[in-house]
Amino acid sequence: MTKKIILTGDRPTGKLHLGHFVGSLKSRVELQSSHDQYVMVADVQALTDYFENPQKVVDNVWEIVADYISVGIDPQLTTIFIQSQIPALGELTTYYMNLVSISRLERNPTVKAEIAQKGFGESVPTGFFCYPISQAADITAFKAELVPVGEDQLPMIELSNEIVRKFNRLYNTDCLKEAKPHLSNVGRLVGIDGKAKAGKSLNNAIFLNDSPEIIKQKVYSMFTDPDHLKATDPGKIEGNVVFAYLDAFHEDKEEVSSLKKQYVKGGLGDTVLKSLLNETLQKILFPIREKRESLVKQDLIECCFLSTQKAKSVAQKTLDEVKHAMGVDFFGKKPSNSSFM
Ligand code: TRP
Repeated sequence: MTKKIILTGDRPTGKLHLGHFVGSLKSRVELQSSHDQYVMVADVQALTDYFENPQKVVDNVWEIVADYISVGIDPQLTTIFIQSQIPALGELTTYYMNLVSISRLERNPTVKAEIAQKGFGESVPTGFFCYPISQAADITAFKAELVPVGEDQLPMIELSNEIVRKFNRLYNTDCLKEAKPHLSNVGRLVGIDGKAKAGKSLNNAIFLNDSPEIIKQKVYSMFTDPDHLKATDPGKIEGNVVFAYLDAFHEDKEEVSSLKKQYVKGGLGDTVLKSLLNETLQKILFPIREKRESLVKQDLIECCFLSTQKAKSVAQKTLDEVKHAMGVDFFGKKPSNSSFM
């Protein structure tokens, strides 16, 4: 039986944190043996809003690759590759741009929110505005059947599938495949300050390579229930970051639920909870940090080079089919070296 194809990726704009760990990294590790998995470092996409600071993107490429391998994404099982090194992705994007209207792009709720958040105003760069099309190229180039993502990425997969249907219909082919999203069953992890999102740029996340001291410090600074002043006071679970993290990371769900009951009733102090969470997180992050410290950058580069070559040829094959479907393959499969006429 052939394995189902997975494609997913991250923008290299910062180190990965616990939000990524529960949201995507864990499921990549679980899926990699049973699937043909591609994980892409989306540096081209990152440059659509970091074009003034490419060095930041470049530096984070290797950070992210190191994060991947540290959490157990195995380069023998998963093809880890770098987006900018795959020319076919740019070419596919060019052809797909013909199939998407500007008003369709304007309706993308994720892009809309990002435009507001980044304060582009009237000067939204075209590259940024069109990144959902380039993301469709990423997905379709590998004929991905499953795309593990967070909820905010659903509009991208929807657009990608629209492009697939339109392309196949227009050019009377079935070379492009529709993809299904694969949502992790854990919702988005809140920031340690209680903000809706743990973010690289918001500085409210616990990073995979934070030191034990920093982890502890972050756990003890977590937002709980501001009205829970004494241990004997009844406390609130909702909006309480420590419980959100215990829910996401503590293995013993029964223990967490009995702690919640106790907290609501009163008689359970924040420090007891924080110390339990600290212990839980230290246990998870210790082997990841150890593995990361053992990695040698040159090995990462060599390993990524080989897998990027593989990704390059897979994407090229799809591009060849796409061009063939449109009839723009003037020289057939491969021009030979013999004289032209
Ligand atoms: N947009 C994704 C993010 O911000 C990254 C990404 C780029 C991606 N191309 C992709 C994810 C293709 C899934 C499939 O996290």
